[in-house]
Amino acid sequence: MSNAPLPLINPVPLPLDKELVLKVIPMPADTNGNGDIFGGWVMAQVDLAGSVLPARHVQGRMATVAVNEFIFKQPVRVGDILSFFSSVTRVGRTSITVQVEVYAERFRSQGQYVKVTEASLTYVAIDDEGRPRPIPR
Ligand SMILES: CC(C)(COP(=O)(O)OP(=O)(O)OC[C@H]1O[C@@H](n2cnc3c(N)ncnc32)[C@H](O)[C@@H]1OP(=O)(O)O)[C@@H](O)C(=O)NCCC(=O)NCCS
Repeated sequence: MSNAPLPLINPVPLPLDKELVLKVIPMPADTNGNGDIFGGWVMAQVDLAGSVLPARHVQGRMATVAVNEFIFKQPVRVGDILSFFSSVTRVGRTSITVQVEVYAERFRSQGQYVKVTEASLTYVAIDDEGRPRPIPR
């Protein structure tokens, strides 16, 4: 397990066409056996972040129906500041699909951003019985 800071690979500007929907700093309890952040923890945060824009449309219960794509581009470390940006890519009859991009400010390199994850997820508006319902227009 290494605590050495990660080299700053490919710092990039933040996206202008997406909304900041979540910021979080992973803790030591979120690591895997390598000492990096466990991918399942990142997926859970992306699922939460991805639900923010659909929640505005759905106005009620919804469920994640699909993770269409999920790419871990670079590892995440304890102490990185993670920023989650999202945009709606499709509004269907009962479902909404979003793109989520995650940028890390590395420990000791705050203020510079590297893209660590990108994903596409689909959420479905559901009624009280858990069945799909139309999204209010
Ligand atoms: C979400 C759920 C209610 C959808 O039920 P369903 O019978 O599959 O619904 P439908 O086939 O009518 O599809 C509903 C919408 O989801 C979309 N959808 C279904 N499967 C999909 C898939 N694999 N990928 C992308 N979209 C999908 C459909 O295209 C449709 O969207 P539209 O109305 O905008 O065109 C049901 O699958 C479910 O309860 N899944 C479990 C959800 C869950 O536990 N999630 C994890 C915790 S939140």
